[in-house]
Amino acid sequence: MIYQVYPRSFADANGDGIGDIAGIRQRLDYLAGLGVDAIWFGPWYPSPMADAGYDVSDFRAIDPVFGTLDEVSALIAEAHDRGLRIIIDLVPNHCSDQHPWFQAALAGGPGAPERELFWFRPGRGPGGELPPTDWVGEFGGGTWTRTTNPDGTPGDWYLHLFTPQQPDFNWDHPRVRAEFEEILRFWLDRGVDGIRIDSAALLMKDPTLPEVHPDRPHPFHDLDGVHDIYRSWRRIADGYTPPRALIGEVWLPDRQRFANYLRPDELHTAFNFDFLTCAWDAAKLRDSIDGTLAEHVPIGAPATWVLSNHDVTRVVTRYGRADTTFSFASKREGIPTDLELGTIRARAAALLSLSLPGAAYVYQGEELGLWEVEDIPPELRQDPMYPRSGYVDPGRDGCRVPLPWSGDAAPFGFSPEGASSAPWLPQPATWKDRTVQAQTGDPHSMLELYRTAIRLRRELPALGDGALRWLDAPEGVLAFARDPGFACVVNLSADPVPIPAHRARLLTSRPVEGSLLPPDTAVWLATG
Ligand code: NOJ
Ligand code: CA
Repeated sequence: MIYQVYPRSFADANGDGIGDIAGIRQRLDYLAGLGVDAIWFGPWYPSPMADAGYDVSDFRAIDPVFGTLDEVSALIAEAHDRGLRIIIDLVPNHCSDQHPWFQAALAGGPGAPERELFWFRPGRGPGGELPPTDWVGEFGGGTWTRTTNPDGTPGDWYLHLFTPQQPDFNWDHPRVRAEFEEILRFWLDRGVDGIRIDSAALLMKDPTLPEVHPDRPHPFHDLDGVHDIYRSWRRIADGYTPPRALIGEVWLPDRQRFANYLRPDELHTAFNFDFLTCAWDAAKLRDSIDGTLAEHVPIGAPATWVLSNHDVTRVVTRYGRADTTFSFASKREGIPTDLELGTIRARAAALLSLSLPGAAYVYQGEELGLWEVEDIPPELRQDPMYPRSGYVDPGRDGCRVPLPWSGDAAPFGFSPEGASSAPWLPQPATWKDRTVQAQTGDPHSMLELYRTAIRLRRELPALGDGALRWLDAPEGVLAFARDPGFACVVNLSADPVPIPAHRARLLTSRPVEGSLLPPDTAVWLATG
C-alpha cells in the first residue's frame, strides 16, 4: 500500500502552521504502524507556491518552509530503517516563473536562445495582441501570457498549460531532456526509490500549434513523442540497484493509450483515474476493474487502485452525493451530501480497493474518514483554480486541510503546543472525533478498519499479485475470489444479500449480524 503524504498538511513541527519534513519524521512510526509499504511525497522544492509547490523554482533543493536537503536525507534513511520506501514527485512539464531559466528567458528578450527552452511565440493580430492559440488551460482560462520586452514594449507570449506562474518547458530541446535526466539522478542517488511524474502525458506539444479539434490529434495531450522521454528515464531507473520505480500521473480516458505508458521499457505503473472517477455502482466499478486488469495483465504492469488524492473531492463526500462520480468539470461544493452514507460507502470501498490485485494508494486522511471541507472562507482559499475559474470552482483546498492528530480543538496536534500560527487552512471543529488519537483503539473507527485491512492484506497470501475471479452474485453486488481461499463481496444494491459460503469472516466494513450483507457493505471471507 502506498500512502500519499501532502507535505503542507501532514504535520507541522516548528509551529508556523505549515507541515514540514521534521513533522513527517516525527510521524514515521504512525505510517509504519499503519502498514504502509511506500510513501509518495508531494513536491517539496523551493517554490513561490502559486500552485502549492507544483511551480518549482529549483528542482535540486528543498523549500525552507519544509526544511533542508539534509533533513530529507535523514527522512529517507529513517524511512528505510522502518522498511518504508520513498517516492518523490517530479514536475517535468513546467517550472515556476521564478526559475532561473525562465528569468533568463524573460531578460534575454525576443529571439534569445534561453527562450527556446520554453514556448515563446509572437501573438496573432496586427499588434500581436491576440494569444498564439485559443487553447484552454488545465485549470480553465487561456494558456498564454504576454511578456513585456526589456524596453517596456509589449512582447511575445509564453505557454502555460496551468497557471501563468508555471511556464511549460520545451521538451523538443535537448537541454531540457539532459537537465531532467540529471535531476532524476540527483534524487535517485540520494536513495529515493520511486518517482511520481506530474502531468506525465502533457510534456510534448505540437510545434505547429494547431487549435484543438475533435477530429484531429490533440496538440498537447498524449503526443507519441512523450514515450521516448520515458524510455530514457527507464534506462536510468533500471541502472540502479535495486531498480527504481517510475509512476505516471496519466489522465487519459482511452485505456489503450493509457496502457502505452506501461510498456516494458517505459513506466512501471500509472495512477488509475478511471477507478477514481467511477460512480459507486456495481456494474460500472466492475467494468472499470475488468478494463484496468485487461490493460495491465498482458503487459505485466501492476494495476493501481486510487480512491482519492490532493486534486479531487474526498471520498466520504463524493460517495455521500447523488452523483458519486468525480470530474474536474462538475461542481464541487454546495451539493447536498449525506456524510454518514458517504462514510459507510467509503468503508466498503476501502475493502474493495485493498483486496484488488495490484498497488493500492491511500491519500492522507482517507484512513481517518476525513470529508471535503466546504466552508473554507474565500479569503483563506489558496488554490489557483478558484480565481482562474472566475471564483466559481472553489478549487482543491477542501481536500488539503491539515490532518487532525490529537486533542479536542484545532490545531488537533497538527502543530505543536504554543504554535505561532494557526494551520494554513482551518480545520473543522467536528474533526475532534476524527483524530488519530480519538480513533485509535475504537474498533468501529475508519482508522482501525484501515489498520486491520492493511494488516490482513500483508498477511494473506491471496492478496498478493495473483489474479481475480468473479463469482456469481445478485445484481448490484461485486463478488470475487482470489486464491488461495479468499473472497470479497461488496453489496452496492439497495437490499441485503446472502453472504456466500465461507469458512470464516475475516473483516466487514461495518458490523454485520446474521447471514445477510446489508447495502453499502463489504465483507472479506476466508473460503478455503
Ligand atoms: C497535477 C498535480 O497533481 C496538481 O496538483 C497540479 O496542480 C498539476 N499537476 C500541475 O502541476
Ligand atoms: Ca512548519
